[in-house]
Amino acid sequence: MLSLVFALFTLTSSRLVILPVTVDPGTMKAVRMHGFGGVEVLRYEDVPVPTPGAGEVLVRVRAAGVNPVDWKLRDGMGKGMITPPYTPGFDVSGTVEATDGSVTEYKKGDEVYAYLPITRGGGYAEFAVVSARDLARKPQQADHTHAAAVPLAALTAWQAMFDRAKLQPGQTVLIHGAAGGVGHFAVQMAVAKGAKVIATASARNLDFVRGLGAGRVIDHNKEKFEEVARDVDVVFDMIGGDTLARSYAVLKEGGYLVSIVAAPDASKLADRKANGSVFLVQPNGMQLGEIAALIDSGKIKPDVSATFGLNDAARAQERSKSGGSGRGKIVLTVP
Ligand SMILES: NC(=O)c1ccc[n+]([C@@H]2O[C@H](COP(=O)([O-])OP(=O)(O)OC[C@H]3O[C@@H](n4cnc5c(N)ncnc54)[C@H](OP(=O)(O)O)[C@@H]3O)[C@@H](O)[C@H]2O)c1
Repeated sequence: MLSLVFALFTLTSSRLVILPVTVDPGTMKAVRMHGFGGVEVLRYEDVPVPTPGAGEVLVRVRAAGVNPVDWKLRDGMGKGMITPPYTPGFDVSGTVEATDGSVTEYKKGDEVYAYLPITRGGGYAEFAVVSARDLARKPQQADHTHAAAVPLAALTAWQAMFDRAKLQPGQTVLIHGAAGGVGHFAVQMAVAKGAKVIATASARNLDFVRGLGAGRVIDHNKEKFEEVARDVDVVFDMIGGDTLARSYAVLKEGGYLVSIVAAPDASKLADRKANGSVFLVQPNGMQLGEIAALIDSGKIKPDVSATFGLNDAARAQERSKSGGSGRGKIVLTVP
C-alpha cells in the first residue's frame, strides 16, 4: 500500500504554518473491547489493518453479524479466553482484498462470507483476516447484510441438528427459541431436510415461525410444550433453564437432546433411554458452502430484524442483550 503525505494547516500567532503529516494507509476503523464490562468498554477507533498469514485471506468487510456471544464475552464470559484490546465479531461478509501466496482458491474481489473463531474474533472492522478453510463464497441471492447474518447462527443449527443429533428426514424435531438468530435457521433447515418441526416462540413471532415452515408453533408463554409435543426424535434447546428441564419428557426412547446453552442432565436422559449433549459451534467453510447453496435455491432465507452502522456497535449489542425484536438477526453495516 502506498504511503500518503498530507499537509496539515495550522495558525500560530497569526502565521500560517504548514506541517507535513504522514497518514498511514495501513490503518482501518474497528470496534475494540478495552476490558470487560458494559458497552463503555467498546471503542470505535483506528487500528492497523491485519496481515494474512499462511493459508489466510484478508477480507474487506461489508457487513458483520451480531450474536449474543458478542455481549456475553464483553460482560465477562470472555475472561481467560480473550485478551483486550480485542475486536469482537464472528460473522463477516465482504470481498477478498488480499491473500497469502499459499491460498489459490480465492482472488481479490471474490465475494465471501465466514464464521471467525471466538479466540480470534475481528469481525467488527473494515478488514478481517480469515483462514481460507473457514471461508466460503457468499450466497448470490443474499446481499452482504443478509449474508453476514448467516455464518455463526446457521452453522450452529446445522451442526447441532445434523452432525450432533443426526436428525433424519421424516423425524420430528422440537425447536425452542425458533424465532431467534439460530432458531429461524434451524426451522428452515429441518424443513428442507424433510423433518417435521414443532417450534416454540412468543406471540409476536408465531406467524413468522409458521412462515418458516414449522408444522406446529407453540406460544411458550401460553401453552406448555410438553402437553403438545410427544415422542420427538430430537429436541434442539437454545433456551436452557426451565425449558431444558421440561424437555426430557417429550423425547422418545432413543431420541436426542442437543442444547447450545447448558449441559443436559445425564440421569434424566438415561431415564428416557435417550441421549444428549451440549454443543459449541465450530467454523466450517465447506458447510457454509452447502448453506449458501440452500439460500440460493430459496430453501433458506436469512431474516435481518435490525441494522446498525459499525460505529454504532454498542447500541447493536445492547439491542441483542435486551432481546431486540426477538426475531432473526442484528447486523452491522460497514461503509
Ligand atoms: N453453543 C453454541 O455454539 C451457540 C451458538 C449460537 C448461539 N448460542 C446461544 O444460543 C442462544 C440463542 O442464540 P440466538 O442467536 O438464537 O439468540 P437470539 O437471536 O437472541 O434469539 C433468542 C430467541 O429465544 C426466544 N425465547 C426467549 N425465551 C424463550 C422461551 N422461554 N421459550 C422459547 N423461546 C424463547 C426469543 O424469542 P421470542 O420472543 O419468540 O420468545 C428469541 O427469538 C444464546 O444464548 C446464544 O448465546 C450458543
